[in-house]
Amino acid sequence: MTVPAIAARKGGEPIVCLTAYTTPMARCLDAHVDLLLVGDSLGMVIYGMENTLGVTVEMMINHGRAVVRGREFACVIVDLPFGSYQASKFEAYRTAARVMAETGGDGVKLEGGVEMAETVAFLTARGIPVLGHVGLRPQSVKSMGGFKVQGKNAPDADQVLRDGKAIAEAGAFAMVIEGTVESLARELTDELPVPTIGIGASAYCDGQILVTDDILGLFTDFTPKFVKRYADLNSGIKEAARAYAADVRARKFPGTEHCFGVDQGPKRASG
Ligand code: KIV
Repeated sequence: MTVPAIAARKGGEPIVCLTAYTTPMARCLDAHVDLLLVGDSLGMVIYGMENTLGVTVEMMINHGRAVVRGREFACVIVDLPFGSYQASKFEAYRTAARVMAETGGDGVKLEGGVEMAETVAFLTARGIPVLGHVGLRPQSVKSMGGFKVQGKNAPDADQVLRDGKAIAEAGAFAMVIEGTVESLARELTDELPVPTIGIGASAYCDGQILVTDDILGLFTDFTPKFVKRYADLNSGIKEAARAYAADVRARKFPGTEHCFGVDQGPKRASG
């Protein structure tokens, strides 16, 4: 699945996206999705951070590489982390080019609106596909005063619309819309020439994305309203660990079927 193939899905078959951070997870998801996002949400989901601000380029490269190793079909997009691209379009190019070269991913995602349009134009003109991200922008959690739904009043909604248009005009191939009221998602989807990929943005999007650990019930620190749980792996893991611990303590594990050379004994020279 290529970047142009994703872009061509505007108004067509919904684009299915999930996050992935590791090779085994990428292998599990690959056949079922169109796009795998190596999101900087990994800071919270697998490193236990309070938000995404502490995620580094090195983390993104290591996990991006791991995901690319596990995919055969899906388009892989890697997030540019906080502080690695905002200072200038030149800094953004250097970071994005490094991420592309060292991960083998198909493109990068960056957060921002009107203020990032020049940067998006600079990257896309130089062969770096960019997935935009407007609405609730987790890297701006401090200035937003928390993870807050966007577009609840007219000036706020107008700003998000301007942001989406600016990033699409600058050349982004698609746009993540996060945490917005339905009416705004609908307007963005109707007005942008590129596919919108919603997360907490209603069904009025050209595709959907969720954090995989949320839908699997693996990340249980909190469950946002927009997440649907498709499995409860957290309970499954705890039950497996409990059963293993009980077996070891009761000397039921390992059994003979887990041992090498049972009943054979080492051959030793006699005398
Ligand atoms: O970091 C991330 O995983 C994301 C998605 C949730 C859109 O940005």
